[in-house]
Formats: sequence, structure tokens, C-alpha cells
Amino acid sequence: MEAPSTILFFSLLLVGVLLMVYTASLYPLNQSENLSDNRIQAKTSSDRHVDHSNEIPQHPLDPLTFQEIKKTKTILSSYPKFSTFPSINSITLYEPEKSIVWNWHKGDPLPSRQATVIAYLNGKSHVLIVDLGSSQVVSDVVNSGSGYPVLTAKDLEIVVTAPFTDSRFNKSITDRGVSLSDVACGPLASGWYGPNEESRRVMKVECYSREGTANFYMRPIEGLVVTVDIDKNEVVEIRDTGRGIPIAKSSNTDYRYSEQKNKKKESTIPVNPISMEQPKGPSFKVDGHMVKWANWEFHLKPDPRAGVVISVAKVRDSESGILRNVMYKGFPSELFVPYMDPSEAWYFKTYLDAGEYGMGLTAFSLVPLNDCPRNAYYMDGVFGLFDGTPFVQSNMICVFERSAGELGWRHSEFSFSGMEDIREARAKVTLVVRMAASVGNYDYIIDWEFQTDGLIHIKVGLTGMLMVKGTVHQDMNDVSDSESMSMSGPLVSENLIGVVHDHFITFHLDMDIDSSNNSFVKMNLVKQETSPGESPRKSYLKTKRHVAKSEKDAQIKLKLYDPSEFHVVNPNKKSRIGNPSGYKIVPGGTAASLLDLQDPPQMRAAFTNNQIWVTPYNRSEEWAGGLFAYQGKGDDTLAVWSERDRTIENRDIVLWYTLGFHHIPCQEDYPIMPTVSSSFQLKPVNFFESNPILGVAPIVEEDLPICSAVASA
Ligand SMILES: *[C@@H]1O[C@H](CO)[C@@H](O)[C@H](O)[C@H]1NC(C)=O
Ligand SMILES: *[C@@H]1O[C@H](CO)[C@@H](O)[C@H](O)[C@H]1NC(C)=O
Ligand SMILES: *[C@@H]1O[C@H](CO)[C@@H](O)[C@H](O)[C@H]1NC(C)=O
Ligand SMILES: *[C@@H]1O[C@H](CO)[C@@H](O)[C@H](O)[C@H]1NC(C)=O
Ligand SMILES: *[C@@H]1O[C@H](CO)[C@@H](O)[C@H](O)[C@H]1NC(C)=O
Repeated sequence: MEAPSTILFFSLLLVGVLLMVYTASLYPLNQSENLSDNRIQAKTSSDRHVDHSNEIPQHPLDPLTFQEIKKTKTILSSYPKFSTFPSINSITLYEPEKSIVWNWHKGDPLPSRQATVIAYLNGKSHVLIVDLGSSQVVSDVVNSGSGYPVLTAKDLEIVVTAPFTDSRFNKSITDRGVSLSDVACGPLASGWYGPNEESRRVMKVECYSREGTANFYMRPIEGLVVTVDIDKNEVVEIRDTGRGIPIAKSSNTDYRYSEQKNKKKESTIPVNPISMEQPKGPSFKVDGHMVKWANWEFHLKPDPRAGVVISVAKVRDSESGILRNVMYKGFPSELFVPYMDPSEAWYFKTYLDAGEYGMGLTAFSLVPLNDCPRNAYYMDGVFGLFDGTPFVQSNMICVFERSAGELGWRHSEFSFSGMEDIREARAKVTLVVRMAASVGNYDYIIDWEFQTDGLIHIKVGLTGMLMVKGTVHQDMNDVSDSESMSMSGPLVSENLIGVVHDHFITFHLDMDIDSSNNSFVKMNLVKQETSPGESPRKSYLKTKRHVAKSEKDAQIKLKLYDPSEFHVVNPNKKSRIGNPSGYKIVPGGTAASLLDLQDPPQMRAAFTNNQIWVTPYNRSEEWAGGLFAYQGKGDDTLAVWSERDRTIENRDIVLWYTLGFHHIPCQEDYPIMPTVSSSFQLKPVNFFESNPILGVAPIVEEDLPICSAVASA
């Protein structure tokens, strides 16, 4: 190929991955660059470099170290069942049994270290367990169901270069007046749409013109879709349905500050720089992967597929001071992003971002001071590359304390009949764990925010670029009603439709409230009517408590006019006055999938058929869309497991919650979307004996640094 560097990848995944191999520490910050003066953001948080080469694990859940990944590769290199070295899709810790982890204490010897490897060779996907102590492969199971592992950087490279070997593709590009040197191609998961696409790994490629802009997503070469056989490295099919559709303009699409700073916009009133100060330093400690802050302790682990995993989360009892178990493991298990356009070039765009691309693999370095405040601590991910060598995903998670001007609690009382005036207010400070994945065009910001009152707030922010569709239309005034009806979304700029789509993020929440055996309780609010003459009231609400017995009893669709609270309780641990200790899941703004249950993408994403599910704990049921989600048919989803209808009362149970968004794009989403966010909470219910933050002291002037700025001074 004449100039492979002209071919960009959607997320520059390969480039990002390759650059970070071993080289991260070789490029010190150029001190003479005045970042504050020119405001061009550093591409990486290059002022922080950690040497991972000699790290040793300190906790049973610590991710595999650099050396452990290398050792795993060495063991696999001499594994007799592999004729040649396979493609490595992931190398992660094979976690010890849950009871071992809960009972482990700092200072105890670590349980034996094992790696789970997902490897692909000659059309077969292997799940291997490699024991690092005995240097043995102790288990090797070949996937007998549908689907393939998460794509590797190598797979993506093959896919985006293959179309250029086909002269029909080149001709189609040049026929549209686009120079081949300006083409950027993206590897798109093909989904699964029946037998024609089975028994081989295929991917779709769609391309863009990057002439005149870094934001090539806004310049689609519409309707040209190439299907590539990943293993054979060859073009299977070229579909070209959009020849009459012009390529949208490049002007005003580049969002980079280097492009924006010279465009003086008189209407933009600047906001002065703002920052939070901690004169006495941060109150949290990170010891290896253990995070300790205020009354919380938890283990924090970067993961190539989930992005961030929070484990063994414990909160200190406000009365006894004892650390109490809350959650064994919480992480985003799968995402589902269906686009609402059934046409040839769009129907397959129904992504499972975690199982197809990997949320951690696409979580590039956070931008200091902007992605995370100055007081943030950064953590790297150490993952395995397709050839089994380790690489560092630097600064992929940040941890920081935040005082967002919110209140912990307050009350004031007006003095009357001799009572004292009361003015009591307590500021809220929280601890945030953040990660941002750039899965191609879209960015997902995932926050786990811990509060001192025991609440965990889980937030998902969506930003980045819309996936837009080229159109002949330029102006809605010239679009007839019938033409408008056939558009799959609003016109967001000349020649661009913002296609309507959904985002669903399903969280695995293995709650272990005060020990592993818990129950799931629905607290249904029901309208009661009074009998004639009983009360001046005609109606009121009453709670009806129902303990779910089996999985089907805990398949929940949220309903505004039939409301419930959903509690995970420990029936064996009662409060002073006899209430079971618990946490409730508090949904926020959310959305449900409305696709037909038999629609192939919905079958694969059947984990979104309900907003809440509860399953008995099973260490092999972690990925809601199946372990092998790529081209999977949906035979290993949360919905399939839940159909077994296993007992869940007073058992070790896992709660699953899906946060959803419908997105009807608008002009403000062009050329890059302002962040849209939604969230849910895990909130204590009768877990503490009373308000756990009663004793918090108010802040006084002397506690704070002297800042001279005054509003409207
Ligand atoms: C450091 O930055 C300055 C200013 O941008 C530049 O002139 C110089 O060449 C850079 N030095 C290195 C070693 O990159
Ligand atoms: C860096 O920025 C500061 C503040 O704007 C300025 O005073 C200083 O001269 C700059 N330094 C260089 C080397 O450009
Ligand atoms: C298609 O174009 C690319 C880029 O110019 C070139 O490297 C490649 O050889 C061309 N393919 C064919 C089949 O002509
Ligand atoms: C655990 O999960 C796996 C995968 O779904 C399943 O094959 C197995 O039967 C489950 N075990 C139990 C006890 O439910
Ligand atoms: C949890 O429940 C299971 C099933 O009822 C029981 O076998 C087990 O002993 C219980 N564990 C604890 C720690 O109570």
C-alpha cells in the first residue's frame, strides 16, 4: 500500500495502543511549553509516568501486572495445543473465589495468581485459565455457542486497510470526487443478522473524507459499505447505495482549540478559570488499587472490557466504626447502541460497545485540569496486546474529591416563643472515580461518586460526535412532508441527518449488604380508596412489600403510574428497631428499548428487555450480552440466564440495572455534542441506625484558603 498512514482508524485505536507500548515514559513533558498561555491541551497527562515493569500485586483482586502478563504469554507460547501463537483478545486476572477475597486481610499471603486468557486461533475462541504459580494452562474451553471475542487492534487494522485492495472501492471513492489520500475509514461491528453472516468473522467498513477537518465524522461518504472477512483479510462485499449524496462541508466542523481559538466570537462571554483548593491536601489515599476516603474503602481496577471495576466496597458504620460490606463488584457490563434506520447502509449499526470494542481499550488518557480537576489522582491500566505483550493505557482513570456547592443537609428555624434562631447547613463533599471511553465517534464518561452518607451515585455522560448520515437535503424549508417522514432523524447541518438512536448501559451490581446472602424486595406504592364516611380523604398511598422468590419475580419494567422502590436487603441483619439492613436502587431519568423482541439486535441485547434484573451470583455470568458478544446471536445474555428462574431469596444475588437514553439529535449536537448525562443511585435504607452524617462539622472561614475574588467585584 502506497501510504498506509493516510488511513485513519475511528478511534485511532491501533495507533494509540502501539504508541503506548513501552514508550510512555520516554517522552518527558517539554517544560518550555507554556500550556496555560497557549491553552493547547496536552495530548496525554505526560507529566505523570509510572514505571509498571516491576510492580507486584498487593491485593487478591489487583489486575495482572506487567510481568504477570509477560509470564502468561511465555506459558502460552509453549502450550502444546496451539500450533502457532494465537491472537490474544484479552489477558485479565482470573479472580479468586469470592469468599477468599472477602476473608482476605492485608498482610495475608495472596491467593494463587491466575490469568484468564481469551485467545482466537483457526476460527476457534478459547477461554484459558493459566496458573502463574505452576506455569500451567489449567483449563481450556472452546466456545461452543455463537459469537466471537472483543476485537483486537490487529483485527481493526486489517479491516480498515482491506477495502483499499479492491479497485471497485477505490473507483467508488474517486468517482465521488474524493481523493484516496483524504479517506479515513472506520471499522464497524456488523451485528448478527442471520445465517449468511455466521461461521466467519466479518466487519463493515464505512469511510469519510478528512479533507479540511480533523472531524471526519461530519463528512461521511454515504452509502458505501464494505464487508470484510477479518480472518481472510479480504473484501466480501461492497454495497454502494449513496452515489448521488454529496459529502457535507468541512468548514466549522473542527472542534479542536487550535482551530477555534482564532475565531473570535463576540457573543461568547468568557467564564474566569475556576478551581477547587484543598489547603490541607486530599483526604483520600490510594494504596496500590485500594482507595480509602472518609468512611469508604474499595478496590479500583481498570479493565479492558468494562473500563472501571469497583470491588469490595465497604462503608464504616457511623456508630460502631466497623467497616461493613456493601458491594462485592460493580461495573458497566454491556452497552447497546441501536440506530433507528433500517436502510442498507445503516441497519447493522446496533453496537455492543463493551463486548465488541472494549470500554477500557478505548479509554485513552484523561486530559488533566479538564477531564479531571487539579486535585485528581490518575491510575493506569495495564492490558495485553493482540500478541500477548503488555501495554499501558496511561491515565485512564482519575479519582478526586469534589465540593460541587451541594448540601449534605440543612435546616433553619425562625426564632419564636423564646426559641433560639437555628441556621445549620453542611456542605457536601464527594469522591469521584472517573473514566472516559472514546468508542469511535462517541465518548462515554462514567463516574462512580461516593458520598459520606453512604450513597453511591453512578453517572453516565455522553459526548463526542454524532453518527451522521449524508443526505441531499440542505434546508428543511425545501423538504416536503413526505421527504421529511422518510428521514431517519433531524437535519443537523447542510447535507447531514443526525440519525435517531438509543444508548443503554447495563451495570452489574453484585451487592453483598453486610454479607453475601441478600434478598430483593419490591416496595410497591398502591392507591387505597377510603370507604364512604371513613375519612375526608378519598384516596391515599400504601406500601406493599414483596420479597422476590425467583429470578422472574425480579424482572422489572419501570412504571410511572405503578411505582415501587427496589431494595436489596440482608434479611439476617436487622437494625436496632428490627428493619433489615439494605440499599435501594434509585433510577433517575432513563429510557427503555422499544424494539421488537424478535428483532435480531434486540435478541442480542435482550438484557435491555427489563430495567432491573436479579440473578443468583454465578462467577461466569458477568457480561450481560454474553462473553462472546461479537456477532453473537443472543444465546448467552442476561435474559437467557434469568429465564432459568433460579431462587434468589436469601441468597448471594447480583442486581442488574440498565440506564437508557433516547437521542433525537439537534443542531447543537453538531459538530460535537455538549455532554448529556443521566444517573442512578445506590442509597442506604435502614442500613445505618440514623443519619450517618449528623456529626459532620460545618466549614468556617479559617478552614479555607484566602481567595480575593468576589462575584461582580
Ligand atoms: C519544546 O517546545 C518549544 C516550544 O513549543 C519548542 O520550540 C522546542 O522545540 C520543544 N523541544 C522539544 C525537545 O520538543
Ligand atoms: C507563560 O504564561 C505566563 C502567564 O500568561 C506568562 O507570564 C509567561 O511569560 C509565559 N511564559 C512563556 C515562556 O511563554
Ligand atoms: C487503492 O488506493 C490506494 C491508495 O491510493 C492504493 O494504495 C491501492 O493500491 C489502490 N488499490 C487498487 C486495487 O488499485
Ligand atoms: C453459571 O453460569 C453458567 C453460564 O451461564 C451456566 O452454564 C451454569 O449452569 C450456571 N450455574 C448455575 C449453578 O446456575
Ligand atoms: C446463604 O444461603 C445459602 C442458601 O440458602 C446457604 O446454603 C448458605 O449457608 C447461606 N450462607 C450464609 C453465610 O448464611
